[in-house]
Amino acid sequence: EEAELHDRIRAAKQTLGDRVVILGHFYQREEVVQHADYVGDSFQLATAAKEHPDAKAIVFCGVHFMAETADLLSGPDQAVILPNLAAGCSMADMADIDQVEECWEQLAEVYGPMDVADDEGLVPVIPVTYMNSSAAIKGFVGRHGGIVCTSSNARTVLEWAFARGRRVLFFPDQHLGRNTAKAMGVPLEQMPMWNPRRPLGGSSTADLQDARVILWHGFCSVHRRFTVAQIDQARAEHPGVRVIVHPECPMEVVDAADEAGSTDYIRKAIAAATEPTTFAVGTEINLVRRLAAQYPQHEIFCLDPVVCPCSTMYRIHPGYLAWVLEELVAGRTPNRITVTADVADPARVALERMLAAKP
Ligand code: 13P
Ligand code: SF4
Repeated sequence: EEAELHDRIRAAKQTLGDRVVILGHFYQREEVVQHADYVGDSFQLATAAKEHPDAKAIVFCGVHFMAETADLLSGPDQAVILPNLAAGCSMADMADIDQVEECWEQLAEVYGPMDVADDEGLVPVIPVTYMNSSAAIKGFVGRHGGIVCTSSNARTVLEWAFARGRRVLFFPDQHLGRNTAKAMGVPLEQMPMWNPRRPLGGSSTADLQDARVILWHGFCSVHRRFTVAQIDQARAEHPGVRVIVHPECPMEVVDAADEAGSTDYIRKAIAAATEPTTFAVGTEINLVRRLAAQYPQHEIFCLDPVVCPCSTMYRIHPGYLAWVLEELVAGRTPNRITVTADVADPARVALERMLAAKP
């Protein structure tokens, strides 16, 4: 039955030819990735969505916020399709637009008008959103002089923001924000966490005055599972092991690892190793397994012994891929993701700032 699904996908793809391009995130399961024209991290897939102006349809094997981003960056006549509409991201859901608007208003009470620069030309706060957020959040950021980042360019983006503002409000992922700012030398005391359940956050006004990076309370349910104990165990059992983790992991885990970087950083680090090496990797299992199969000269394993797939990425089953492709063959456009113009215009501004800020 599985083989028949793959035959159906191949046949529909062949009929559609250049009219369709299939993009797949590194965390997609192997049965899906094998049909993708491009496989990459969030940043690479956003760029890929821009670079296929001739494709009538972009089938996005990833999660909802990635498909929205592809819609923002692709042409108006191109349809972006998410094979299963239930493929969301729990982290993206942790930054709700109403909460962010409320936070912004409360920060304005502390800092004064948010669009007025001081005598050094810096505004009080620049909002920075991780790519893993809704288009509405990206639109908010675009309207308020802010920018989007991914895990592969977070540092470059924070430098961009600090050239324009005294502080950064970073959402939704507290860990990426904290890990990146810490690596840039920002002390932890200057990174209070916003708590939407209490007025003016869990932070006192004094904390906020000294703040350099105000963190949101979001996290990735996959990456927060990694622990220092797992790293200790890997080091005890595999002397000489290289531990590489994703910056969505908690700070203590990133500190205990040898290296931290985006999914593409992890892939490149392993590809570049010339000597047979043991790698313990702190990221999603589908990517780790693929790397282990691709580089048999190395020993590559996931830090978490209990399999930890991203459950929403996993919702893109090859059956859905076959279905959307066959619908396209029949002239229909199922599961189209469209961002309305009022949100899309400012969201695109925030994304274009990121694309221009990359080194
Ligand atoms: P990157 O693709 O930027 O490494 O992000 C990982 C992730 O969690 C995507 O949802
Ligand atoms: Fe969201 Fe984490 Fe899954 Fe990425 S891995 S889609 S951040 S839940």
